[in-house]
Parts: sequence; structure tokens; C-alpha cells
Amino acid sequence: MSIPPRFLDEIRNRLSLSEIIGRRISVTRAGREFKACCPFHKEKTPSFTINDDKQFYHCFGCGAHGDVIGFVMAHDNLSFIDAVEGLSADAGLQMPKPDPMAIEQAQKAKGLHELLDEATSWMQGQVDEAGNADVLDYLEGRGMNADIRSGFRVGYTPADGQALRTYLKGKGFSDVDMLEAGLLKESNRGGEPYVFFRDRVMFPVADRRGRVVAFGGRILPEHIRPQMDQNFTPPKYINSSDTPLFDKGRMLYSESLARQAAREGHTILVTEGYMDVIACNKYGFKGAVAPMGTALTEDQILSLWSMVIDDEKLPILCFDGDNAGRSAASRACGNILPLLKPGKTVRFAFLPEGEDPDSLLRSSGASGFKKFLESSLSLFDFIWAAHTAGRDFSTPESRAGLTKALQKQVSTIADPEIQKHYKELISSRISDNFFKSYQGKGKGGQGPQSAKASGALRLRPLVQKKNRVAQKVLLSAVINNPELYSCLEEEFGQFIIEAQNLNNLRAHVIASLNEDASLDTEGLCAKLEFQGFEKERDDILNESVYVHAAFARQGAFASLGESHMQKQWLSYYEGLQGQGLNEEVKAGWKSAFESSNEQQEDRLRDMVRIKGSE
Ligand code: UTP
Ligand code: MN
Repeated sequence: MSIPPRFLDEIRNRLSLSEIIGRRISVTRAGREFKACCPFHKEKTPSFTINDDKQFYHCFGCGAHGDVIGFVMAHDNLSFIDAVEGLSADAGLQMPKPDPMAIEQAQKAKGLHELLDEATSWMQGQVDEAGNADVLDYLEGRGMNADIRSGFRVGYTPADGQALRTYLKGKGFSDVDMLEAGLLKESNRGGEPYVFFRDRVMFPVADRRGRVVAFGGRILPEHIRPQMDQNFTPPKYINSSDTPLFDKGRMLYSESLARQAAREGHTILVTEGYMDVIACNKYGFKGAVAPMGTALTEDQILSLWSMVIDDEKLPILCFDGDNAGRSAASRACGNILPLLKPGKTVRFAFLPEGEDPDSLLRSSGASGFKKFLESSLSLFDFIWAAHTAGRDFSTPESRAGLTKALQKQVSTIADPEIQKHYKELISSRISDNFFKSYQGKGKGGQGPQSAKASGALRLRPLVQKKNRVAQKVLLSAVINNPELYSCLEEEFGQFIIEAQNLNNLRAHVIASLNEDASLDTEGLCAKLEFQGFEKERDDILNESVYVHAAFARQGAFASLGESHMQKQWLSYYEGLQGQGLNEEVKAGWKSAFESSNEQQEDRLRDMVRIKGSE
């Protein structure tokens, strides 16, 4: 929709820039201007100035500059239209409407917003009614204290199918509007319309601007509400059906809070449910959102990227660690590939089996959850894992098959440049795994076993610079103590190093030790030198590495003993992986994507949800 420049001027004229900014950050007067600490970069002394006469702000620190609309767009992380809409309300102006139909719609929308807001407040109040103490207990028990409840406007609807209707009628709202807003359902037995959500915990769903547009309603647990009819199990969650204000496939739960959080530097996390989002917020992960009982749609994926203002847009999608979670991830991956753009991708994080973010946060706290997020896989690593987990690639045919399948998958990437990079990644990963690590693997070593190990899943964390030293420690420990290799064959085989040259060196260490397990450090170094790794060897085997970990020194194995040495190496390795994923989860991965039941399982899940959303 195009907005006449006159209208924008009217907004600028009516609003005081310093007041609008002052509602968001603290500003102080300085002569004819105002000053503040710039909200767009970190600073201690204010270099952000606001000039009401000229109607613009300017930061002498970072160069941020703009008018009231620009400020609200940048600060609240809103689109132009959304910002103008909000400001026009502040200015007491009606947004210009192209035609009478649109005006009517806008008025109706306004009425519906008011209706939903009123309903939400009422539901919030119900939680504190004396008769609903059990509901309050339940919410408290699930970690929703008063702050959280009011932040998310969590409420409750009584079992009485008329209570909300009566209340809203008293406030002057009509049945027609309540039906349109999805709060009432028409009785199909000719009776009075009745309230759709009854005896449920209510999670209001807000749009980008924070206005309530729909609800999710959770049933109370069995111990509070024993099931009456043994033949009918009501769905755990029901959601508002789509209305003029609510399009389930476009919106995300907690989108407006997450948008704001993303602007403050929080990572966007996609979880599965209402409770997860709330728990994430409680533990400080404020970028959490959730789709409402459906798989992520294209619109939702684009919306995730639009929340992040940095050039690098990297939301993390959290999935259950079971087969259903993995196939949901596969489907999401299929939807995302065609949409990839430079700087826009996602990561995949898999929960330990049986956990959701809510339960993981409770059991492991913010630090455990952070570890879980750090264990997330890049999109490419996920694709690799999806195609290789638990498979055997001992024959050239199977490897060729793998290449083909990978190529086929990445050919769905629409952006040609990105597709090219993915294809290059495929070749290098294939060659790293099948032609380098196991090259030279001698007598009898070349069996399905080794091929399997090399094709196995790699849970690769974000590798940061500070991890370089840790990687060198792990390498030097093995080179300086070759006896260690036989106790760590599998881990060392899966220990992928970001730096290509060091990773190649690792592969040569493996190849050399596989060929001759009795090689000592001198022998190993001689081989590495012969293979052209002189520079790398010197880089790894030196005091600047050993100061970080004594077990990396030559002779450590002899003095510490095998089990101690192994323990030290592994704990360092696990620290590096930062993954905190247990064996069970890793084992779960082995059967990933292969279970014949998974589609069925998934379909069942979807069926439950579709039922729930009606
Ligand atoms: P879950 O069943 O995993 O619930 O559904 P949850 O969020 O962990 O809730 P608690 O912890 O049991 O209270 C995840 C999401 O799937 C949708 C809802 O959006 C829910 O938050 N869902 C689930 C439905 O839409 N309908 C259902 O019947 C169940
Ligand atoms: Mn849960």
C-alpha cells in the first residue's frame, strides 16, 4: 500500500520526535536538542542527538540517522507500514485508506482488536478468581509466576460456555463480532452460540505489533480435571481458527517479543509450543517463537529472517530428538533450501529424546540449554547427517549414490551462488570422509566398519576462533602420545576440524596409525613431514599449545596412564563440541531417517493437531 507523502508529513508534524524516542529510551535535554545513549550501538557517553525542529535524530558515534518513522522501524524492528500504522495511531490519525471497503475493513479490524483485548484481560482476571485456585496452582507449578503470566497475558476460560459471552455483551460487543473473532461457535443444534474455549488455560497470540489476534487453549492436566468420558479424549491444545485478523500459517507465537529481542541481539529460536516459548523467555532466551501446531511455512521462514537485523541471519530451529523430530527437520529443510539467500540460513538443534525446551530448561537450566543450542548443526551438516547417519559407504557404488542424493537435494536451492557453494561443500566433505581419512589404511583395515565410522553423523558445533587452540591441544595430545589413538579411534575419527589443513593432517595421522599402530612420535612426525605437513606440525607441537593442557605433551600417556589420559582428552573434546548430548541421542541418530514407521508416526501427530486446531 502506498502512503501519500502528505500523510507522512502530517505524522512528523503532529508527533514530537523526542517524545516518541523518549518513550523507548531515556533522553535528556541539552539546550535546544535532546541527547541519549545511542540505542543502535554500545556507548557510555551519549552521542545520539535529537532535534525536534528539524525532525531528525543523528548519532555522532555510529552515524545512525533518520526521522520518527525511521527510528520506530529501526528501534521496534518493524516494517515501514507497521511503523506508520503505529505512529498514525499515536498521532490520532486515520491511516489513509484506498477505498471505502478498506475503511470498513479497518474499522472492523479495530473493533475485533478491541474485542480480543477485552476478552484477554477478562481471561487473565479469571486466573485470580478464588474459584480457580487450582488453575493458578497449575500455572505456578509450571513455572509461570505473576510476571510471566502478565508478560504473556496467560489466562483461563471457565467451563461455563456462556460466561465470556455474557461479559463481552455487557461491554457492548456483538455475537457477530465474537463469532468473527473466533471466540464463539454457532451451535449446530439450534441453541445459543457458545464459547469455543472452555475450561482451558489460554495463551493469547499477538501479531507483530503486539495486538492479540487469536488464542491457543490448553486443557488442564488429568490430576486437576480427571477425564469424564473414557471414550473421548479432547485434544491437548486447540487454537483459534483463521479469522480476518489471524492467519495461522503466517504468524508465530511471541513474534512481537522475539522481534524486539532480536534487535537487542538475541538469537531467534523456533520451538514447538507455547510452553516452550514461555520457558525460554523465563530463562532469558527471548528470541523464542513457535508455529501453532503446524510445520513451518514459507511465510514463517521469511518472517524469521526478517526479524534479524544483522547481515547474518541465523535462527535456530529446535526439534525433538526422536524420529518424528528428525523427519520434521527434514521437511523443514526441504522447505528452506529453495528460499536460501546470501546471509540467510538456519541451524538445526536436536533435543535429547523425550525432552522439549521447557523440560530441558527445567532440568539443565540456562547453561544446559545454551550447550544444546551450541550443539546445533549448520544446514549443510544436517543434510549430510540426514543422508549418512547409520549408513554404510564401503563401496564406490554407495558413495556415488550418496553424492547423487546430496547433489539432488541441493539442486533445489534457487540461489545459484549458494547452490554452487553447497555443491563444493559436497565434494570436499565426500573427499574428506572417504578419500583422506582412510587413505592408506592398511591390511584388513578397509572394511565396512571403517566406512561406516567415516560416514557416521558428525555433530559439529559452531567452531570459533578460540576453539583453534583446543583443536591443537587434541591433535598434539595424540601425536605426542600415539598410544592414545587406539583408545579414541572413533572420536578422533569424527573430530572434524574447520581448518582444512589441520583436518587433513588429522586424516594423515589416522592413516599412518591405522597402517602401523606401533609408530612413535618421531616416526609419526617424520611421516607428516614427508607428506608436507611440516608447517602444521610445528604449529601444533609447541609450547604455546602445551600451556593450555599438560596432557598434550610428549610422555603424558606414560605418566598419567591410559584411563586418565583418555578421560582428559574426551572431556576436552566434549567441551569443544559443547554439545552435552548424551549417548542415547547419538544412538537415536543412527536410526534416523530410516525408520519405516516414521511417516506414519508423523501423520498421526499431524492428525492430532489438525483435530486440535478445528
Ligand atoms: P506438545 O504436545 O509438545 O505440548 O505440543 P507442549 O507445548 O510441550 O505443552 P505441555 O508442555 O505438554 O503443556 C506442541 C505444540 O503443538 C501444538 C501446540 O501449538 C503445542 O504448543 N499442538 C499440540 C496442537 O495444536 N494441538 C494439540 O492437540 C497438541
Ligand atoms: Mn512441554
